[in-house]
Amino acid sequence: MAARDTTDSDLPLPLANRHDDVVQGHWLLARLGKRVLRPGGAELTYKLLALADVTACDVVELAPGLGRTAAEIIYRRPRSYIGVEQDPDAARAVRSMTLGYGDVRVAKAADTGLPDASADIVVGEAMLTMQGDKAKAAIVAEAARLLRPGGRYAIHELALTPDELPEDVKTDIRQALAKSIKVNARPLTIAEWRQLLAARGLLVDHIETAPMALLQPRRLISDEGILGALRFAKNVLIQRDARRRVLHMRRTFSKHRDRLTAVAIVAHKSDER
Ligand SMILES: C[S@@+](CC[C@H](N)C(=O)[O-])C[C@H]1O[C@@H](n2cnc3c(N)ncnc32)[C@H](O)[C@@H]1O
Repeated sequence: MAARDTTDSDLPLPLANRHDDVVQGHWLLARLGKRVLRPGGAELTYKLLALADVTACDVVELAPGLGRTAAEIIYRRPRSYIGVEQDPDAARAVRSMTLGYGDVRVAKAADTGLPDASADIVVGEAMLTMQGDKAKAAIVAEAARLLRPGGRYAIHELALTPDELPEDVKTDIRQALAKSIKVNARPLTIAEWRQLLAARGLLVDHIETAPMALLQPRRLISDEGILGALRFAKNVLIQRDARRRVLHMRRTFSKHRDRLTAVAIVAHKSDER
């Protein structure tokens, strides 16, 4: 079950004035027409939302980006929706999609300004991976603060696999990703994601994985539809600097394919804290 894509291809995209050589990978892909900016694609998002069960709940989404998941959440009729996005252009675009349900604040996910215990569900996709260790911990602590006892934290992030991967290999992959995406990409192993959540009293109920296939043709079609995938391919073909970046990102993902996976995790806030 999927919501109609209401994102506008002429959105005032964040960082539109940054050159293709330096702009962060997700905004580069967005500029080329890509709307699904998370590693496991829309399918993993559908599973995440089904497991978290957002219907009739007060939902906070951290870092909604261009709002594809916001549209999916609204389609499932939450009681309320609040987005917290640091980029003002992205926040404005998502705000227009969530009218009648709530608002989108321009704020940092670690400091949302929202009241304690005001959410049944906190959702965040492809945003913890791009934070250093301290920022990850601060954002997870904020999610735990926002949740009512028994409330659910649903995340969709990039993971390293297997859990026993040597530290030097992890460092090599993180550096290769950071260089290619131009974001401080710091994926964790699934065991480390679980630990990060457990340290803030969030107990894992569900884990689902999907291949990290963001730029594979089959995934592009399933995420963006045939027309969206064609539009993206055309833009990549005609924009030389962007093409160089996209091909570099694709090569990096392919090279480390066996060590990368997308992971969706739903954890609940223990009643005992
Ligand atoms: C890779 S995009 C993912 C967007 C969206 N969640 C998705 O999956 O399509 C990362 C998003 O996180 C936002 N972001 C990154 N760090 C943030 C923070 N500390 N607080 C709020 N938003 C943040 C960025 O502005 C961007 O919209």
